[in-house]
Amino acid sequence: MCGIIGYVGGKKASEIIYRGLKTLEYRGYDSVGVVVDTPKGMELRKGKGMVEEVSEALQFTSMDGTTGIGHTRWATHGVACKENAHPHTDCTGKIASVHNGVIENYQELKEGLKKKGHKFSSETDSEIFAHLVEDEKKAGKDTFQAFLASLKKLKGSFAIALLAEGERKIYVARKNSPLVIGLGKGESFAASDMTAMLEHTKDFVPLGEMEAAVLETGGVKFYSLEGKEIQKTPMHVDWSPDMAEKGGYAHFMLKEIYDQKHFVYESLATDVSAANALISRYKSVHITACGTSYHAALMFKYLSQKYLGKACDAIIASEYPFIASPDKDTLVIAISQSGETADTMKALEHAKAKGAKILALTNVVGSSITRVADEVVYLNSGPEVSVAATKTFTSQLAVIYKLLFPDNDFSEIPKIISDSLQKEAEIKKIAETIKGKTDVFFIGRGLSVPIAMEGALKLKEISYIHAEAYPGGELKHGPLSLITEGVPVIALAPSDETVYKMLGNIKEVRARGGFVISLNNSQEIAKESNISINLSSVDPLLHPFAMVIPLQLLAYYVSVARGINPDRPRNLAKSVTVE
Ligand code: F6R
Repeated sequence: MCGIIGYVGGKKASEIIYRGLKTLEYRGYDSVGVVVDTPKGMELRKGKGMVEEVSEALQFTSMDGTTGIGHTRWATHGVACKENAHPHTDCTGKIASVHNGVIENYQELKEGLKKKGHKFSSETDSEIFAHLVEDEKKAGKDTFQAFLASLKKLKGSFAIALLAEGERKIYVARKNSPLVIGLGKGESFAASDMTAMLEHTKDFVPLGEMEAAVLETGGVKFYSLEGKEIQKTPMHVDWSPDMAEKGGYAHFMLKEIYDQKHFVYESLATDVSAANALISRYKSVHITACGTSYHAALMFKYLSQKYLGKACDAIIASEYPFIASPDKDTLVIAISQSGETADTMKALEHAKAKGAKILALTNVVGSSITRVADEVVYLNSGPEVSVAATKTFTSQLAVIYKLLFPDNDFSEIPKIISDSLQKEAEIKKIAETIKGKTDVFFIGRGLSVPIAMEGALKLKEISYIHAEAYPGGELKHGPLSLITEGVPVIALAPSDETVYKMLGNIKEVRARGGFVISLNNSQEIAKESNISINLSSVDPLLHPFAMVIPLQLLAYYVSVARGINPDRPRNLAKSVTVE
């Protein structure tokens, strides 16, 4: 949540920050702001709305100066408005800071500062920080010492960047929120993720937990929060900036849906041997994740139980600390595209404290999750920008299949994905029949259940239509009372051992007037459906790959048909770094 970018160097900071904010917009997009240390002093511009519209109104890039910070917000404390947008300044307007995370003790700190005469203009937890630094500076400390002293007072999570007028430095620190430092020639960058800096550098240092850094034109120095200098080793990534561009597609989501046919090769080529050996050593396996990644976790569980006879538990990460009892004989597999999800990190903290071994599946090199894991498998899906996860889900599946079935040949998967993508025009038409509905149900059995859940999540998050998924057999235990004339039911009914049971479910739905759209590869199912999406015949083990693509396309086209930007659904953010 919230995107941060900072720049110090020889170029026009406002332009670099503006472009970085556009890349970071997936992290939050309710308000945005930029502060630049201009030749005439500190200049702050911020407002409610998305990066492009606010920048157009306030002319971000007309600000001169070579040091600055920017922020795109996802509201936690206080509504989206100009006052609550970052950066926030101190009482003098000469210190400015941006923050991602939650300062849990901000009320108490704010009261203390108010008593000392500080004036506040926002409802946010974040605004206190610039004032804390102002206060410490008044007591005689230099900016860096004041920065460290202020950080010590914070409870909660933070990625913070701060600058003070006339210094040509940016001070940054992190605790439980991501921040990556970019290293250039005669210039330094800081941002919430690498993609915002890719057009300038490919050399990065992800800031560690409870670490700080001071960025200058001549380079970056790293410190512990106690102020002790530490040495860090930069890493080089070979992602190119155009991997995060739309490449002619109307939205990132559509591009990323199409990306799947290429990136799944990369995921299938990932070396999973060490992780594989780890999994086979443990009898007790927990898989933990959130949202779409949780659906991948469920696939792991279903596949492992069904095909390998090995029981394991898939537990939603935010629930994990309350219901799971891992110990030193437990392997905990965390699945997280971003590697930064706070709920998943908390689950791992719990597991680690109990002595469990951690295996992480993530897409982002150097992300927080990689630092707590004993073993990491990278998804290799390239950057995913759209808020709705698509290509990283199929990459997660590909990696899971490799982990569980190391001896199988999965070279058919890219072709299965390409075949499903051929359905685009057909799905676009089906979206027209759904766009005006208020409820949509998804049903499946066996391996189709996690895919049905993923289809429902995708549809609801980007179209705002209520969508729910059930195992087909559960309909009669309650949800069937909701099936009336014309209610769409998307039935995942591929030809496997579940097909006849699914046929029964489809008949139940039709008998109550429900409108069945089925994914199938059999005449019998097609005949019973109002609309049939025909899948190519593949090994039943691989049906999930064939089914998930049409569901992603359906969610995308329903969203577009309803006039929504699928890349930026309301109230959501790509990287969920609050619990
Ligand atoms: C849905 C979606 C979210 C994420 C969830 C976990 O399209 O993207 O449900 O899957 O927030 O995120 P990661 O995988 O980054 O931990």
